Amino acid sequence: MAPAAPLIEFAGVSKVYPGAHEPAVDRLDLAVARGEFLSLLGPSGSGKTTCLMMLAGFEPVSAGTIRLKGVPIESLPAHRRNLGVVFQSYSLFPHMTVAGNVAFPLQMRRRPAAEIDLKVREALQRVRLEPFATRRPNQLSGGQQQRVALARALVFEPSVVLMDEPLAALDKKLREEMQLEIRRLHRELGVTMVYVTHDQSEAMSLSDRVAVFNRGRIEQLGAPAELYDRPTGAFVAGFVGDNNAVAGRVAGREADGSLVHLSVLGRAGTVVGRCSDALAAELNLTPAPARPVSLNIRPERLRVLGARDAIGISDVHDVGPGGRLNRWPATVVDLIHQGDHWRLITQIAGGENAPPWVVKLPAGTAPAGLAPGTAVTLGFAPEDAWVF
Ligand SMILES: Nc1ncnc2c1ncn2[C@@H]1O[C@H](COP(=O)(O)OP(=O)(O)OP(=O)(O)O)[C@@H](O)[C@H]1O
Ligand SMILES: [Mg+2]
Repeated sequence: MAPAAPLIEFAGVSKVYPGAHEPAVDRLDLAVARGEFLSLLGPSGSGKTTCLMMLAGFEPVSAGTIRLKGVPIESLPAHRRNLGVVFQSYSLFPHMTVAGNVAFPLQMRRRPAAEIDLKVREALQRVRLEPFATRRPNQLSGGQQQRVALARALVFEPSVVLMDEPLAALDKKLREEMQLEIRRLHRELGVTMVYVTHDQSEAMSLSDRVAVFNRGRIEQLGAPAELYDRPTGAFVAGFVGDNNAVAGRVAGREADGSLVHLSVLGRAGTVVGRCSDALAAELNLTPAPARPVSLNIRPERLRVLGARDAIGISDVHDVGPGGRLNRWPATVVDLIHQGDHWRLITQIAGGENAPPWVVKLPAGTAPAGLAPGTAVTLGFAPEDAWVF
């Protein structure tokens, strides 16, 4: 069976704001499947809101085409696109009651009064705000106001709901509650969600797929686990999850090409890491000795091999696949208890001017003998270290 045609499609879409030197969105291709929860994740200014505004019809595109159900919509005014929209500022009408706010999109569509009553009640039930129907927005908490905005976006049963940082103004606990609420609504209603956030953990916990934005382009698009386990570049490795990185140069490749040897920080010998697909393709074309690269390792993939004489120790009790382990002398800078885990902050040998490396240790191991100043050896398997 052929895959279903995408519900939403960006094809070569660019946006250049008047007077800007760089495009805010740069030749974007993106397809969103029906019923999918897709997040646009990226740093401030990377073009997420601009994408959503073009999709919603609040900003014209500079080039390219956006299709909804296969039909180009650039010339369709916002209200005819029939998309539910929730923005960061709840933008509720302050003079209307909660029920009045939720009824508004149906009144705009000239639905009969009886239907409006029923739909508003259902929508408020869905977000668990029925008892608040007659209150005004300023008599509600931030999370309740956000739920009104959600009810208002869903009440006319749009097939697509767009949300731009809808939870940014809420405290952590409320934000997590609302995330569960949004997940539940997505599951129950089967609507397609396009969700903008700069919070990677929010994107990871909500989405089927995440598009990581950087300077108006998508760096990588994939399921949360894929972005975390198989980042295609240093930007994504650093933006999605924690990452320890160090610069090095290619010193050679192993026979099957999947592992690459680096010389790093003037250390004798080489460090072995996993060759990213892009780097492999590049090295296949032009084997570039001494090409500058970066080595990237997740904090939970680093191990502390021994807290004693740091260099050249051999108490390797936990070897990686293939039985090989990179070893790196380091000095403990700090040990921080984070509740569910410990963070060991270290300065790697030779990297005195580089950012510290963080090792994540499981809670409960109450690491002994790791006082600041202790010399340790860090170990990591070649397969756990990405080279970009
Ligand atoms: N109305 C505008 N006029 C001119 N430039 C704009 C306008 N809106 C956004 N920009 C610029 O376009 C770029 C992308 O902005 P956009 O708001 O899409 O980023 P964002 O990813 O949503 O960022 P944030 O996480 O801070 O909300 C930025 O460089 C921004 O300064
Ligand atoms: Mg934005």
